[in-house]
Parts: sequence; C-alpha cells; structure tokens
Amino acid sequence: MPSKILCALIAAMSLQAETGYDAWLRYAPLGDRVQRQYREALPGVIAALDDSVLTASARAELIRGVRGMIGATLRIESGVPSQNAIILATLPRLKDWGLTANLNDDGYWLKTVAKNGHRYTVVTAPNDRGVLYGAFALLRKISLGEPVSDLDQRQSPRAPLRWVNQWDNLDGRIERGYGGRSIFWENQHARDDLSRVSDYGRLLASLGINGCSINNVNANPRILASDMIPQVVRIAEAMRPWGVRVALSIDFGSPQSIGGLSTFDPLDPKVAVWWRSKVDELYKAVPDLGGFVLKADSEGRVGPSTYGRTHADAANVVGRALKPHGGWIFYRGFVYDHHMDWNNPKNDRARAAYDNFKPLDGKFDENVIVQIKNGPIDFQVREPASPLFGALERTSEAIELQITQEYMGQARHTVFLVPMWKETLDFDMHAGRAGTPVKSLVRGFVGVANVGLDQNWMGNHLSQANLYGFGRLAWDPDLSSRRIAEEWTRLTFGDDLKVVDTITGIQLRSWRTYENYTGPLGLQTLTDITGNHYGVNVEASERNGWGQWHRADAQGVGMDRTVATGTGYIGQYSPEVAKMYESLSNCPDDLLLFMHHVPYTYKLHSGKTVIQSIYDSHYDGAQAVTEYVREWKLLQGRIDDARYREVLAQLEYQDGQAEVWRDAVTNWFLRESGIPDEKGRVGHHPGRIEAESMKLDGYVPKDVIPWEAASGGKAVECTAARMCAATTRFGGAPARYTIRVRYFDQDDGVSHFRVIAAGRVIDQWDAAEHPPTVKVDASSSMRRTISGIDLHAGDEIRIEGMPGGSETAALDYIELEAER
Ligand code: GCU
Repeated sequence: MPSKILCALIAAMSLQAETGYDAWLRYAPLGDRVQRQYREALPGVIAALDDSVLTASARAELIRGVRGMIGATLRIESGVPSQNAIILATLPRLKDWGLTANLNDDGYWLKTVAKNGHRYTVVTAPNDRGVLYGAFALLRKISLGEPVSDLDQRQSPRAPLRWVNQWDNLDGRIERGYGGRSIFWENQHARDDLSRVSDYGRLLASLGINGCSINNVNANPRILASDMIPQVVRIAEAMRPWGVRVALSIDFGSPQSIGGLSTFDPLDPKVAVWWRSKVDELYKAVPDLGGFVLKADSEGRVGPSTYGRTHADAANVVGRALKPHGGWIFYRGFVYDHHMDWNNPKNDRARAAYDNFKPLDGKFDENVIVQIKNGPIDFQVREPASPLFGALERTSEAIELQITQEYMGQARHTVFLVPMWKETLDFDMHAGRAGTPVKSLVRGFVGVANVGLDQNWMGNHLSQANLYGFGRLAWDPDLSSRRIAEEWTRLTFGDDLKVVDTITGIQLRSWRTYENYTGPLGLQTLTDITGNHYGVNVEASERNGWGQWHRADAQGVGMDRTVATGTGYIGQYSPEVAKMYESLSNCPDDLLLFMHHVPYTYKLHSGKTVIQSIYDSHYDGAQAVTEYVREWKLLQGRIDDARYREVLAQLEYQDGQAEVWRDAVTNWFLRESGIPDEKGRVGHHPGRIEAESMKLDGYVPKDVIPWEAASGGKAVECTAARMCAATTRFGGAPARYTIRVRYFDQDDGVSHFRVIAAGRVIDQWDAAEHPPTVKVDASSSMRRTISGIDLHAGDEIRIEGMPGGSETAALDYIELEAER
C-alpha cells in the first residue's frame, strides 16, 4: 500500500468519534516524539503527602492524564520517594523543603526541586484545593505542549469566589437550559445516578471553579424542606472530591411556606431564629455548603418589600445565619419592576439595579455579596457595564455572566462570549479614580452555566468554549480572548494548525457576527422577549412593562438615557464615564441606541447613517455565518467525523437562521422608516418565489405573526388535507441551480416534505427538529438546500407537504440560485 494512503488511513483511524463528553479534558495521545520528550521530562512516580480527598483526586487525575497523553502509567508511592517523583502536597507539608510562596487560597505552585540527588516535580499550594488546581494546570501544560522539566510557576486566582449557578428545577427541567435535562434533579429528587454531577465537578475544578448552586434562582421553597437535605447531601458528596462547594438558591418566603411561621419579615426575631436553625440543620448535613443565592422582589419573587424592609435587611438576616459556618449569601442585584409604563419616557429598567442598591451601600454584612449582571438589562447581545459596579463602595460585589446562551442563540448559534465579557471586565468605571476596571472591583465571578444531560453538556460543541472561557477568566481576567479560544480549541480539537486557526477564528468573530444580525448599535437582542427569547420579533420588547424597549418608530430609534433629556440613567455612572455616553459625539457607535434616541438619518462615527448601518450589519452578519460554514467544511478529515458533522449541521442551521434574522430586521426597519437600502438589497430577493404566489393545491395562505418572521408576511399551511402542494413553473435561464426551500418545523409534530422538479423527486425529508416553538414563526423557520439541479424553461417545481402531529407542513418560499 502506498505510504501516503497508509498515513491517511492511520490518521483517520486515530480520529475516533468523539461525543464532546470529556470537553477540554480529553487527554488525547500526543504524537510519538512529544510523548518521548514528556516521558523524559516527567518522573514516573507520583506521591501525595496529604491525606485528603482533593489530593487523591489530583493524583488520580494526573495518572489518568499522563496515561492518556503520554501513554505512561505513573506508579503510586507514599511518603517522599527516594527517586524522581511528582509530589503533591500542601505547603505546610513541605515545611522543611524551604518552599515559601505568597499565594492566595486556591492558588498553586508548580516547582521543580532538586533534593537529595533526585528531581521532584512539586505541585503545591496553600490548601488542598490549590493542589488539585495545580494538577490540572500541569496537565494543561502537557496538553498544550509546554515544557515541564524545569517548572517554577505560581498562580493565584484573582477573586476568591468563582461559582457557577445552575437554574435547574427539581422536576428535572432547566430554566434557560439548552443542553438537556438536569444532571442533578429528576422528579423532585436528586437523580439516582449522580455520576454526571461528579464529572461536572471535575470539569469545574479543572478551571478553578469552587462553588455551584444547584437549583433554579427562581427557587422552589421545597429545597429547604428537611426531607430534601439528604438529597443535597448526595449532590454535595459527588462534588466534594473536586473542591466544588454546593450552594442553594432559596426563596425568601421560606420561613412561612416551609417553616410554618405567620411571617417572613426579616426584622421579626422569629424569622431570624428560623433562618438560623434551618442553616444549622443544613450545615450539620453539609458542613462545606457554600451558602445561598437569593433572588428577592424581582420578577414575581417575594422579598422584603412585603414588609417595607430593605434588601439589606433581607440579605443580612440570612447572612447572619450563614456567618458562623463560613457560608456566603449571593444577593441578586437583578431587581426591577416589570410592570413599568411604556408611555412614560422617563421610565427605564436599566436604572433599577442602581436605584435599588446604591442607597444601601455599606449596609450589607461582610458575607453578603451583591451579584450583579454584567449589564443593566438582562444578558442582551450588547450592554454597557452595569453602573452599579462603580457605585457600591462599601459592599462586596460579584459579576454575573451568562454562559448558557439565553439571548445568544441558545446553543443553536455559535457565539463565543469571552470577548463580550472582557469588554465589561476591562471597562474602567472610574470609581473614585481612574484605573478601576470592573475586574478590579469584584470579589466574585458567577457564571450561569445550565449544563445538562446532553453528551456534550451544552447542546453545541462550540458552546463549551463559553464554560471554559468563563472559568479561565474567573481565575485570571487578564487572559486575552485569543489565548482562551486557542487553548480551548487545542485541548478540545487537537493541535492541527488549520483546525486551531479556523475554530479560533470563528469563535473570535462570532459575537460580532451574532450582534450584527440580531441587534447592532446597542438595540439589544431583537427577539421575542415575552416568549422564548430565541427567534426574531422586533416589536416584542415594545409597548409592555418589561422595559427592554428600543422605541423604534417612523422617525427614529433608541432609548434616550441621557441626563439632559432622557431617563437620567447615564448619570448613574461616574462623571468621566457619563461624559462619554451623554454626548452624541462621544458615545461609541456600538452603544449609541442604548443611550440615545436618534433619527434614522443620524450619521455614525463610521460615516454611515443609522439606517444604512442597520441594513449593512445584518447583511454582513448573515454573510459571515455562510463563511463559517465554508471554513468549517475545509476541516473535514482533520477532526473526528462525529463532531465534524454535528458542528457542520449546527452552523448550516445557524446560516439559515441568520438569513431569517437579516430579512426580518431589515424589512421591519424598511417598512418603519421608509428609507430604502442604498445597496438595493432589502426587500429585493432575486430568485425568491413566495409560496403564497405559487399554484396551491390544499395549501392556504396565512398571515404569520410577527409579520417580519416570514417573507412577505405570509406562509402557506396545509390544514385540511393529508397532502398539499405548491407548484411553480420555472421561467429563468436554463442552468444548474441550487434550490432553497424555506419551510417551518415546529416542536409539535413531524411534517414530511417532497420536492419534485421536472417530474423527478429531487429531495424529501422529515421536519423533525425541536425548535423552541409550536408556532409558525421565526423560531420554526428552516431552510433546506438542494444543489445541482438542472432546470429548463417550463420545468415544473412542486413542493409537497404532508402535515404530521399538530404541524401543518407550512412553507414560506423557494429560492433559485444559478450555480457557477
Ligand atoms: C432572565 C431569564 C429568567 C431568569 C432571570 C434571572 O430574565 O429570562 O429566566 O429567571 O433572568 O436572572 O433571574
């Protein structure tokens, strides 16, 4: 066999199908040469000097990683071996080694030490959690091909509290979870098999995450019922070997609903006693419980306002119960009124966190952390940093970032969020002085992760980079986006340069791309904000009390948040920051419509008018996704086929959705503003044939709501027959064509489609996807691409739809494009 073919065969065989389950901890075998180098550089023996569960995890992990990557099995020894060895020990155990280091808790030191004629690779730390983190760091070095023979690397985490929140309901559903059902809960109980929880703990530990709340922030009060405690114990046991402290989301009404008191007034002594005894009971069972997360007086949750008390009263009564046990209370700053009057131009949800919490600065106990979302609204595609970060001077703060992609394409779109998070973390709040970026003001990092039972945890392989990136930033917010993206890609997909460049490139551009087609210039994500937060719906945010307003009308667009004429929100920033946002001439284009209301003809710094910029960015965004698909296809054979195909399918779907977004938003603004696209694209779709204009057998035209979700505002639906058809006669120039069929696939049935051209069946498929809707709308809009079809004048093109379940085999249009 020619050697080239043999090499290709071997390469293909080594690209075993991967599920994504091991994420960035695959420990895939390194090349022969590199393996040899590491075998020489690393001792063959490992010894743990502390008798701790975490150190045992560290040792097991190193054995596993070294075996996987280098193909060597580390031999376990006890005590300090009289030969070269990897030593795992906390600093106090190494007192006589002359090793002193100024490290924070959870920090670590990787140090090569020559002693008694032997070479020791020492992984040490102030506490055993740090030893575990050091072990992961050593393995990461090996995965990344970095030298390990002469180590001297000290690392301390920037912030002591690095938590993830899981919004899991006790029945197993996850609020805003896109990676399957809960790994923790099923049917009001902890799952029988918690091995996934333990594996999740391992992923978290590899990033230095040390806390995890395990139930929805919209908490079911039952979580604190006494019969739930054994369930929490089991989950804590699964996490404990990985140094992850379990925490609970609590309901502030619990003293009444669970405790049977007549009140939950935080200043009532009976209530304080109840919290103390409940917390004592919990800590007896889970001594290392991290504490609580509390959402109060927000989105229908009860809170201290019931009794005219303050958030500080509420936080402190719980905090004081936790204090003797070393527990924390993360009190959510996400408090706002969702019944605001849209007609009042002075109303502004963005003001809420500051207005609620600034007056309480200094009134919170020491173990209370105010948990503040990165922006003032709610995880939109772009928001300024929340002014509250700069406003609390005597209160501990944590930043809350959303890893799960609620407003960011819900794992159906690839959007790498690290660049967005970094913009906030690096933003200088000028809190009393210059040089106070958000990352320097926070004591904690909280990521809303919402992983689930899907094999790849997040529902999309590329979305895993967000969990990875969150953890890396929580550890070191100075890391660059590129570095994080590259690290993640190499650990997850291997070292092939083409693979690394392509995936890193897609990830780094993906946020801007998504912003371009969903909500540029600070408009926020123009999605169905009262529904699934997924598909496009430009007006969903208007004329209701939720306050995610953009106030687009025939004349102009944007929220006037200035001090001079608007809601005054900008005045919540320090004068330096306010100066930038308040004046139109200084305000960055990216946030213009978040801060100002301007006419469509207003000229941006970019030189474009607002309206033209909206048009252009949507076309750019959609085009960029088409490009991702093209780039991804070049990776075939360079990564395992399973993940190659799954990501390809995801990107192709995203490409189709980006087109829906593009058309919907641009058409909406065209209709509203009446200003045509300079480039003539908006509203003109060469080659597109609307289904409602075709000859219909059984199909009936229907208005789609919102109108912009379907081309021409209409779809055809098959409601009264077993099969319907839409037919057209081809009248273009004879050539080879790509035919794109835009149809609808909801989550409540499986329709079947068949496409016939010139009497020949050219494609058929089941519409069996599970988008987050049962309606004919933007979320269910799908695209099927059929290539290489020769068409001649007069050929009949016929689409047949067979409804299934509650689906109506709805069709939007077909589009014909001549192939080159
Ligand atoms: C968003 C999200 C809710 C969630 C809330 C929160 O509004 O849509 O599901 O409960 O944030 O952070 O509390």
